[in-house]
Amino acid sequence: MHFVKTLLYLATLLGFVMAQTMQFLSPAAGATLAPGQNFTIELKVADSLTNFDIGAVVIGLQSCSSTCAPPSEVMGTILYQGSFPSGQLTANFSVMVPSSFSSGTALIGAINLYMVGLALQPSFQFFNETVTIS
Ligand SMILES: *[C@@H]1O[C@H](CO)[C@@H](O)[C@H](O)[C@H]1NC(C)=O
Ligand SMILES: *[C@@H]1O[C@H](CO)[C@@H](O)[C@H](O)[C@H]1NC(C)=O
Ligand SMILES: *[C@@H]1O[C@H](CO)[C@@H](O)[C@H](O)[C@H]1NC(C)=O
Repeated sequence: MHFVKTLLYLATLLGFVMAQTMQFLSPAAGATLAPGQNFTIELKVADSLTNFDIGAVVIGLQSCSSTCAPPSEVMGTILYQGSFPSGQLTANFSVMVPSSFSSGTALIGAINLYMVGLALQPSFQFFNETVTIS
């Protein structure tokens, strides 16, 4: 019984250690963007002791009505999909707000698809940033 608990604890610990996280450095939360505007999305990968390899990044812009749906459900307009430069912990992506995009609150949602650990286990992470289109 004790042994099983120890195994579960170890698995939880490993699961935690083996998560990779990416986040937005730019635009700042709450930034205002105009339809048709070119802007830079800067992403940062957490410095990690664990071996990891980023397979792809997808970034979408969702127009929110009353609430924003999580990026695991709605991506909206795809602004970028493709590779994350290997060997870098930060990267810039030049994207454009579609010229016909609705004004109001919008959610920049992203997916980080990565492989982690010695076995390069496939995994993914959703993250977001709220902005205003005006
Ligand atoms: C945005 O970038 C595109 C492609 O680089 C360019 O054609 C367009 O003129 C730019 N728009 C503005 C408003 O700067
Ligand atoms: C956006 O990310 C934050 C954490 O940074 C989270 O609390 C929030 O639920 C996310 N929003 C959506 C709509 O997924
Ligand atoms: C991304 O752009 C910002 C602002 O222009 C700059 O400070 C940063 O060095 C750039 N990062 C990379 C990896 O090019």
